[in-house]
Amino acid sequence: MTHSALSVSHLSKDFQIDQHKTISVLKDISFEAQYGEFISILGISGSGKSTLLKCMSSLLIPSSGAICINGVNPYKLRNSQLAKLRRNHIAFIFQSYNLLPALPVLENIALPLRLSHRPVPVATIRNLLSQMKFQADIHAFVKHLSGGEQQKVAIARAILSDSSIVFADEPTGALDSGSRQVIFTLLKQLAQKGKCVLMVTHDIELASQTDRALILKDGQIAHDIDSPSPDVLYQALGISTFD
Ligand SMILES: Nc1ncnc2c1ncn2[C@@H]1O[C@H](COP(=O)(O)OP(=O)(O)OP(=O)(O)O)[C@@H](O)[C@H]1O
Ligand SMILES: [Mg+2]
Repeated sequence: MTHSALSVSHLSKDFQIDQHKTISVLKDISFEAQYGEFISILGISGSGKSTLLKCMSSLLIPSSGAICINGVNPYKLRNSQLAKLRRNHIAFIFQSYNLLPALPVLENIALPLRLSHRPVPVATIRNLLSQMKFQADIHAFVKHLSGGEQQKVAIARAILSDSSIVFADEPTGALDSGSRQVIFTLLKQLAQKGKCVLMVTHDIELASQTDRALILKDGQIAHDIDSPSPDVLYQALGISTFD
């Protein structure tokens, strides 16, 4: 593979709050992520983790700087090219799931496949859901599921889409600790298969099992840590392990 999966250079993002006030959420962030890498992104609430993920994944236009996804800047593409780049390269697991509540589980998971005219492997989907200990029926409407079940549907959708880069915004936030580890392992397997996985998390235990941790602070990457241990993460986040 000749390109980095993702390249971020001098990315800044401001939000205009009103006529007089602008907040600067991301300030001059640069880094690269490779295929096969599993990266966790940590930082206190409001530090800009979701904003960073959206800017990197073609969902939110940066105020300045450039993003390249598999060597291409999504913000310079025409709509049809952008749609193609998204289909091939980008899966996004949203903090708020972003499912279609009035559709059944199966159709939510199959959506990216249908959009790119690929077959829907129902047996594979059932198998994946059962690995995740998903209890509901695949024909149940998503709006009737619990938060944790919806999260599993969103994760299954991302996995089945077979995209080369997976952006996951707190994918284990609504899960119990058993499901949490199962989902984490599935994401780790995607990286082992050569995909690039970027996961926002508050979970130090999970982050310490990723290849690399980025700690966001004051709009910048304050720490970029390879093979992060829990101790190093606690220290970098300024959390005392004795609390
Ligand atoms: N569309 C928007 N308009 C204005 N301000 C925004 C917008 N989106 C995010 N912000 C602000 O940017 C800052 C970072 O938000 P963001 O959602 O990226 O944080 P986060 O690190 O993901 O937090 P959390 O851990 O709570 O999910 C916050 O102050 C938030 O209020
Ligand atoms: Mg967030």
